[in-house]
Amino acid sequence: MKRLIVASATVLASLVSLPAAAQFQKPEDAIKYRQSAFTVMANHLGRVGAMAQGRVPFDAKAAADNAAIVVTMSKLPWVAFGEGTDKGMPTRAKPEIWKDSAKVKDLAEKMQAEAVKFEAAAKSGNLDSVKAAVGDLGKACKACHDDYRAEKYSAN
Ligand code: HEC
Repeated sequence: MKRLIVASATVLASLVSLPAAAQFQKPEDAIKYRQSAFTVMANHLGRVGAMAQGRVPFDAKAAADNAAIVVTMSKLPWVAFGEGTDKGMPTRAKPEIWKDSAKVKDLAEKMQAEAVKFEAAAKSGNLDSVKAAVGDLGKACKACHDDYRAEKYSAN
């Protein structure tokens, strides 16, 4: 009985201090997850981008709905960059990501802050504010991609 209690306490402790990578069973799962999160985020940003560029008519309600999705998605990719997720399936994450973690964290936080501003702009219903916010958010994406996203997917 005592042993059982000790064992379950150990399991609990390991759950509480679960490293982010352990949320994924295999590196492949983490890579797929972060790529999916980025893909969905970019898709919803793109829908508002099309309005900002005048390619589709501005629809304030749709812009605000899409911006809310961008904010949610902007929080997700980061846990999927745990140790050991540099390979397992084709990825464009550069190895420097795991060396410059403080800088990458900063870039990720800046992007999330721009996403929040973007949502506020979209909610305001003012197209000029939306245009400016799309531009600022796009710059925050690019700032990270320039240094940490490779042109091509790795072989595995
Ligand atoms: C802090 C760094 C960082 C920021 C900020 C960032 N990205 Fe990325 N992004 C990456 C990395 C690294 C990859 C490559 C992931 C992989 O292939 O494993 C990536 C991949 C992508 C992909 C390709 C996903 C796929 O299926 O291969 C898209 C699309 C994308 N990002 C869009 C965006 C958009 C849009 C923003 C801003 C709103 C953004 N990213 C902000 C680092 C970042």
